[in-house]
Amino acid sequence: MKTSLFSPIGIFDSGIGGLIIAKEIKIQMPNENFIYFGDTKNMPYGEKSKDFIRKNSMKIASFLYEKKCKALVIACNSIASNALDMIIKKFHRKILIFNVIDPVVKNTVLLSYKRIGIIATSATIHSNFYTKKIKEYYHHLDVVQMSTPLLAPIIENGWKMKKINPIIKNYLNHLKSIDAILLACTHYFFLKEEIDNFYHGKVHLIDIPKIVAQEIKEKLNEKKLLCFHPISTWNRFPIFYTSSSIPIFFEKKVRILFGKKVFLKHDF
Ligand code: DGL
Repeated sequence: MKTSLFSPIGIFDSGIGGLIIAKEIKIQMPNENFIYFGDTKNMPYGEKSKDFIRKNSMKIASFLYEKKCKALVIACNSIASNALDMIIKKFHRKILIFNVIDPVVKNTVLLSYKRIGIIATSATIHSNFYTKKIKEYYHHLDVVQMSTPLLAPIIENGWKMKKINPIIKNYLNHLKSIDAILLACTHYFFLKEEIDNFYHGKVHLIDIPKIVAQEIKEKLNEKKLLCFHPISTWNRFPIFYTSSSIPIFFEKKVRILFGKKVFLKHDF
């Protein structure tokens, strides 16, 4: 498939979580355009079987590949930790592939901590992907991980913070005495402030979107695929696909983060 530096970046997640990654990509690479896919019909991925996650994420990756994207960004930890090998196997000769875990687990920021907490979906925690990878790079680090299965669906459904806060507290009460925390589900970035408040700013929240976007920028540049020309024409607006008819809360988040000049489509 013919792509160029003007081709879009394909970003996908089960729902709104990956929007924060897309936003950071836009901040760090304002001239890049992207196509986003949220598998809202099948959300939450965190409660699905490995087999389901693998099959569905392959379909989405193929969909974005067919749209002539120059790179794929797996903006979902549940997918990255359960299906990355398969996606790489099928697409690595054809398209650049990024995910939200690898750039983080090898980042030197982890050298500054002794004990780190990880909260994620059940699918991510059960895969043990993070602990294995972190141990590969940083032996010194004590890792405590916990699945927080209620969080992603209630974030996706737009629950009010007043109702979410007691749930956060309940979970995080089991995760104290840590120096840093990895919000290892992209949906949780929407709770950054609340989690920071819970720890009174004393536990470092690792900035995953920033680390991931930096890695994408570096690699695109290295491969001469980074776009330095400002986007001007109408067809350069980002497109957001959802697999269920566009959920109201999804659209709201898209408009808050990316403004009015976007296309929202239901496909799949
Ligand atoms: N945003 C996804 C992640 O990073 C999970 C949400 C879900 O359970 O669908 O794992």
